[in-house]
Amino acid sequence: MENSVLIDQYGRQISYLRLSVTDRCNLRCYYCMPEEGMNFVPGKELLTFGEMHDLSALFCSLGISKIRITGGEPFVRNGIMTFLEGLSGLSGLQEITITTNGTLPGRYIARLKDAGIRKLNISIDSLDPQRFLQITRRDSFRDVYACIFRLLREGFEVKLNCVVAAGKNTQDIIPFVELTKEHALVVRFLEEMPFNGSSNFDQFNWTHEDIYSFISGRYPELTRLQAEPNSTSVNYRVPGYKGSFGIIPSFSRTFCGSCNRIRLSATGELRTCLYGPPAVNLRDVLRSGASESEIRKVITDAVAGRLRDGFEAERQNAKQIKDSMSMLGG
Ligand code: GTP
Ligand code: 5AD
Ligand code: SF4
Repeated sequence: MENSVLIDQYGRQISYLRLSVTDRCNLRCYYCMPEEGMNFVPGKELLTFGEMHDLSALFCSLGISKIRITGGEPFVRNGIMTFLEGLSGLSGLQEITITTNGTLPGRYIARLKDAGIRKLNISIDSLDPQRFLQITRRDSFRDVYACIFRLLREGFEVKLNCVVAAGKNTQDIIPFVELTKEHALVVRFLEEMPFNGSSNFDQFNWTHEDIYSFISGRYPELTRLQAEPNSTSVNYRVPGYKGSFGIIPSFSRTFCGSCNRIRLSATGELRTCLYGPPAVNLRDVLRSGASESEIRKVITDAVAGRLRDGFEAERQNAKQIKDSMSMLGG
């Protein structure tokens, strides 16, 4: 196995692939997509699971050791579990994790365990069913909430992702922190990013500093936790609480210096930064009949050209109408 092949011009090693398996979703979160009129991609433009498997194997041979499955909502794509079971056998792959909206994974608990998947991140932005409905435009709070506790009981490591926005859910911040009192889960508060499939974005939303000062005003005695390497979040614990919480400066982009992530969209677009344009479309490269060594070269060249940070990448992305996060894979 070749290790450390994916290194960018700033010396950052890429070991984490975020693989979006679909742009479709059964919810309609306001920060991700419009309520109506989403043009989901026709099936033939999607990578097949076979293509995803082969590309994942190639990425692992280039030094990827962690794959996070994202969407859209990964569990809405038929055949996802069989794909994950195949993926779990890849040489070099140490960890498969999934980011899901939590409406569907409850059906697959046993198969997830059998595939060695132990960590799920669940998007939930409110603990109030009515606000959840306003945010996601679907009445699924009870399913998602039940799923979280079922996963915990079954021994999964669970992180909750909560996008914080004024007028939407700031009254949920403290209740989310309180959830960590009795439950050994991690709640992460995220800054909103502009990827909602439209040109509307209120840049003056809650920043990571705002979120921190709001919470520390309530809990002056917070303990800062040691971060995992390449973590996107800065993590804290209220002393005595079983779980912890983190803050992700996803819009402020303070973590780019240690970014080890690369992204493959459901249509094969390879992005070396969430904020940048795709470097190349690997579906097209694959379907043009390129050899394995040619595809490897395309990938290593894309990584080598990675820009310094999400601000430089954003400057290369002149799009007025921002992509939906469901297309980018988060
Ligand atoms: P762990 O693997 O558990 O650390 O999770 P993660 O933070 O890598 O993944 P998750 O899918 O839960 O993402 C949480 C939030 O962080 C999402 O909103 C992501 O878009 C955001 N995020 C992840 N990686 C990046 C990144 O490279 N840049 C930016 N700006 N945001 C990111
Ligand atoms: N801004 C910030 N976070 C977002 N997510 C989706 N869209 C946005 C956005 N516009 C989050 C979801 C999910 C994660 C992958 O990305 O909450 O948990
Ligand atoms: Fe679906 Fe996730 Fe987008 Fe919400 S953020 S609409 S759950 S893909």
